[in-house]
Amino acid sequence: MPKITVEDTETGEVQTFKIGYGGNLRQAALHKGINLYKGMNEQLNCHGLGSCGTCLIEVTPLENVNGHSIIEKLHKISDNKKLGCRTKVYGDITIKAKLVD
Ligand code: FES
Repeated sequence: MPKITVEDTETGEVQTFKIGYGGNLRQAALHKGINLYKGMNEQLNCHGLGSCGTCLIEVTPLENVNGHSIIEKLHKISDNKKLGCRTKVYGDITIKAKLVD
């Protein structure tokens, strides 16, 4: 099972959790009680529909996640970032979370 290391850009806290191969990053993080959102976005996000852009994360290495979806291209997400709700995980990654105010 791939391991996710989450760096909280607000607090500097680092947490890790495991995810099933090909699992959805946002759903797995929520299930583990790990918040990817900054401030009120934890309550005001689009709940994974891909419309709000507040689940933005920086991912390393990109080879261990799926490529940018059409929605991420519409949001003009830069190459080293992904939307957590549109990220499928295929290997160990480190992410930076809480990037969007
Ligand atoms: S939760 Fe809104 S875009 Fe991902």
